[in-house]
Amino acid sequence: MAKIIVLGAMKGGVGKSVSTYNLAYSLKKLGKNVLMVDFDGSANITKCVVENMKTVKISIGDLMLNQMDKEEQPNPAEYIINRNGVDFIPSSQMLSAVDAKSRLEMGAEKILACILEPFRKEYDYILIDTCPSLNALTINALSVADELIIAADTQFWAMTGLEDYLGTVKKIKNRINSRLEVSGILLTMCEERTNLCKVITQEVEDQFNGKPRIFNSKIPRNIKVGESVYYGEPLLEYAPRTKACKMYQNLAKEVIADEK
Ligand SMILES: Nc1ncnc2c1ncn2[C@@H]1O[C@H](COP(=O)(O)OP(=O)(O)OP(=O)(O)O)[C@@H](O)[C@H]1O
Ligand SMILES: [Mg+2]
Repeated sequence: MAKIIVLGAMKGGVGKSVSTYNLAYSLKKLGKNVLMVDFDGSANITKCVVENMKTVKISIGDLMLNQMDKEEQPNPAEYIINRNGVDFIPSSQMLSAVDAKSRLEMGAEKILACILEPFRKEYDYILIDTCPSLNALTINALSVADELIIAADTQFWAMTGLEDYLGTVKKIKNRINSRLEVSGILLTMCEERTNLCKVITQEVEDQFNGKPRIFNSKIPRNIKVGESVYYGEPLLEYAPRTKACKMYQNLAKEVIADEK
């Protein structure tokens, strides 16, 4: 039975999509069967996976609309893309329209759950990339998740809003999805030259008693990461020897260690 993990964040541009993408391939390398879902209308991961957006005939937005309108879906073979051993459900701009429409829908938070639950028996992990705000779509993702990984860059204000964010997650857990747990904070774009990674780790330790934990795997800032996105390749293919790549592999090990 798959564990469903959502990558979320308090703000945009902190490496959620890059982390979802690379964690998926790192888990795959460790022998896990992975489904990756792009649940952000800006479709960043989709643009990495497919060469031309025009080839995307059915996106997660279509599946959301189908679920609302007729509760019927096409055969998964018509929309799941397999790239180098990882299965993928693409996104498109249309997802933004779904956000507005879903607000009027009965049981609106559970639409994505209806789509993904049937896949649990086929995968070890389902990873969902989300958009940079806690909107109706992100709440949908958290309503089907077992775990949330919070991505945070290592800027001075990285942990601003963490308390409010955790408060909302707690509400979702209490009201909609009792399984939901925060699995940890993933520090991204760590500058090796500065001490901020350590300072922020200590700050969370002091302020939140180490709960949520900060993953031991901290992702360094590396120009190769941006390049790999440009060429649409996971780090395991584009720059396997970089520390960033090794850290994503370590992260996959930390995630798997939670199984026990
Ligand atoms: N470790 C890293 N080193 C260098 N650049 C990085 C690293 N991680 C991510 N980036 C770059 O930072 C930018 C933002 O990353 P990404 O798109 O993954 O963030 P995001 O949180 O998904 O953003 P959004 O909120 O817009 O969806 C991208 O240009 C990406 O290439
Ligand atoms: Mg993103």
